[in-house]
Amino acid sequence: MKKLMAANWKMYKTQREAKETIRELISLINDNMPSEREILIFPPFTSLDVVCNEIKEIEYIHAGAQNFYPAIEGAYTGEISPKMLLDVGCEYALVGHSERRHIFLEQDDLLAKKAHFGIDSGLKIIFCVGEKLEERKAGKVEDVLKEQLGQGLKKIKDVSSPEKVLNIAYEPVWAIGTGEVAGEKEISEAHAIIRKELRSMFGTQANNIRILYGGSVKPENADSIISIDNVDGVLVGGASLSAKSFSKIIFA
Ligand code: PGA
Repeated sequence: MKKLMAANWKMYKTQREAKETIRELISLINDNMPSEREILIFPPFTSLDVVCNEIKEIEYIHAGAQNFYPAIEGAYTGEISPKMLLDVGCEYALVGHSERRHIFLEQDDLLAKKAHFGIDSGLKIIFCVGEKLEERKAGKVEDVLKEQLGQGLKKIKDVSSPEKVLNIAYEPVWAIGTGEVAGEKEISEAHAIIRKELRSMFGTQANNIRILYGGSVKPENADSIISIDNVDGVLVGGASLSAKSFSKIIFA
């Protein structure tokens, strides 16, 4: 299973900045892409087309959307559909990122619809889960992860496709954008809980599901994180905005 090195640019970068960053990243990789890894970039909507154009000839880089609405089209002011994303060459989408859950108050029902509708429409999904600090302190990590997975993936019946249509990102809320990275033991325990839960939901098909870690991944810690059991990739925010720092993570 190739490790997925994903960059979440959040609400950063104009079209010009996005084009410069992706060009610099490609030049830094310079034909040395490790064969067991692939890259995924989540630009803001306005730069998706720009990024898709820059990467269309390169098979190891993919583009994803940070959000979408689960309908083909319609009167949903301000929203973007999977059909529109696929149309610009976007292959992936995030669902359930903690900023969507906590700033935009997206609830389990909407997330379940998005995950199911997105996959049904032909997108590959990165479904994000993770506990808050108070939940960790209260010893509730396992309960929270099981609940988020159970609720969010309840409409998905089949992940047998070798295309990796479903991926999970474990992102402890207290580690996102804080510089506070989860320890190896915490990551390994959380990923084992997630793998076990996916097996109970999808049986052996769970082996097709990559589990990424996200939360303050940096060039300095990427190497040790990526070698932890059950870590099939990373989802990087802040440290992915610079091509230099993200390329170091890709090569970690
Ligand atoms: P961070 O963000 O790397 O800046 O902590 C990760 C994410 O939000 O996906």
